[in-house]
Amino acid sequence: MNIAFVGGGNMATALIGGLLQQGYAAAQLAVVEIDGAARTRLEERYGVATSGELAASVARASAVVLAVKPQQMRAVSDALAPLLSAHLVVSIAAGITTAHLSRWLRGHSRIVRAMPNMPALVLTGISALYAAPQVTPEDRRAAQAILAAVGETLWVAREELMDAVTAVSGSGPAYVFYVMEALMRAAEELGLSRDEARCLTLETFRGAAALARTSPETPAALRARVTSKGGTTERALRKLEQAHVADHLVDAVKQAAERSRELGDELGKL
Ligand SMILES: NC(=O)c1ccc[n+]([C@@H]2O[C@H](COP(=O)([O-])OP(=O)(O)OC[C@H]3O[C@@H](n4cnc5c(N)ncnc54)[C@H](OP(=O)(O)O)[C@@H]3O)[C@@H](O)[C@H]2O)c1
Repeated sequence: MNIAFVGGGNMATALIGGLLQQGYAAAQLAVVEIDGAARTRLEERYGVATSGELAASVARASAVVLAVKPQQMRAVSDALAPLLSAHLVVSIAAGITTAHLSRWLRGHSRIVRAMPNMPALVLTGISALYAAPQVTPEDRRAAQAILAAVGETLWVAREELMDAVTAVSGSGPAYVFYVMEALMRAAEELGLSRDEARCLTLETFRGAAALARTSPETPAALRARVTSKGGTTERALRKLEQAHVADHLVDAVKQAAERSRELGDELGKL
């Protein structure tokens, strides 16, 4: 499979790095990017062919990955539409539905929509994928292989669920960083140095995530195991419960999903 990336920014760079690590040859990948400095960076770092023009790269590719900002997708689609034939189109743009994209691509229907997240930059992302009904099993496998280069993948059966995915794993790293910030602040207020606070916090997150991932027990059960009666954890958790922190978190994630829906509606009007 030859892959043409349209947009050579953060996410495309992560995907290209991941694909090369998976054994793809640089000659199988091409990047269409309007910024000359970004093109030079990609060529020097990865040895991939880059261009400011769509036509040649798309003609040589069987899959086109759209990795520009959502606001740029309409213009890119207009330019891409006449160049498409039997291509698989994979869009990673947040909020753009397959119906809008198909309309902008003048009826092209071999479209997979994917939602990666920021840890893709260090190849530990999680990407959700949704396939439009016309997408073949082979296309699905091809799209999954592209996103699997930067982490885990998960298919969702209904496209509306991409708003939930955006709210949970797309925005999710920000919630984690928010809790990290608070834990580091507490550590410093309790007298630890900034470096000590950072080390203790990051390793705690890494360890807890690894344990939750490998243990057959639920996070609730694992939490109960850290919480002995009358102990320190119990005191902290009581305070969190009194402040309804979990309920606020759930509300916050639902707000993010609603915003994802709103943005999708706004972008669809472009
Ligand atoms: N970063 C994330 O964590 C994340 C997570 C999930 C999904 N996504 C999605 O991934 C997409 C890309 O995000 P990103 O963070 O990689 O953005 P980015 O770094 O801004 O990359 C987009 C690149 O495409 C270039 N570009 C714009 N118009 C173009 C055109 N017509 N032809 C060719 N290249 C063009 C941009 O150049 P200029 O800068 O000159 O405009 C920029 O270099 C977005 O749609 C976003 O919703 C990102």
